[in-house]
Amino acid sequence: MLTQAEVHWIELDSVDSTNDYLSRAYQQGRVSGVAAVLANMQTAGRGRGGRVWQAQPGSGLCLSLGLPMAGLQMPFLPLCVGVAVAQVLEQWNVPVHLKWPNDLLADQQKLGGVLCESFQTGQGAVTVVGIGLNIQPVDVPDALSGRGATSLSNYLPASSMPSSRNLAEQVVFSVLRWIDMASVQGIDAIFAEFTRRDSWLHNPVQVEDQGVVCFTGEAMGIDRQGAYLVNTEQGLRAVHAGDLSLRVRL
Ligand code: BTN
Repeated sequence: MLTQAEVHWIELDSVDSTNDYLSRAYQQGRVSGVAAVLANMQTAGRGRGGRVWQAQPGSGLCLSLGLPMAGLQMPFLPLCVGVAVAQVLEQWNVPVHLKWPNDLLADQQKLGGVLCESFQTGQGAVTVVGIGLNIQPVDVPDALSGRGATSLSNYLPASSMPSSRNLAEQVVFSVLRWIDMASVQGIDAIFAEFTRRDSWLHNPVQVEDQGVVCFTGEAMGIDRQGAYLVNTEQGLRAVHAGDLSLRVRL
């Protein structure tokens, strides 16, 4: 049970990327088990698909959680993390939606993202779950949707804003709890929770391979493997994270 594990916390003022820092720490045997890195700022934060993740000092949550497990063990892990983070933010009535596979949205704008990376170390397989959340306003449009970004400060008055450490602890606990549940129940643990926050559902979408449209259709939600289903003129097609990307058809 991951929720029973002791979490080794590392807090940094500045780092290249919390994911890279934690990956190096595991590779070099400086940490083992469950570890979390929280940074005030990143100089080379990374998003999915090689994109840059920008966060001004103190303006966002830059958090990575290291888990002693292989990525293949839970291919729907990014969805599980999205549900876990959404649940934390909803206690403050932030209207979170999840954009498959790894984006957190509020009012159709990007609030945060998840970047999961797995590798082997001398001690076995490790998965690093990177979570970025905008706390203060940012002026970086989301490259995939072309829409703007939003931040927690749009939903929470400064007086109610948790400290980064407090927010990080709540997020880590929630992620560990949902992973524990998914380890027992599989994707059933999060299927309904993801689906009711699914921002694509029943929207017209186009599926692209490096910017080239492959097919279009209606977004039908995730399947039992965590792939995304699109209803096309040729029938239902599954899109796997990392292979193709989905965009709302305008
Ligand atoms: C995305 O939306 O493409 C994923 C963004 C993930 C950003 C976080 S911030 C903490 C961690 N460290 C990184 O370099 N990236 C992730």
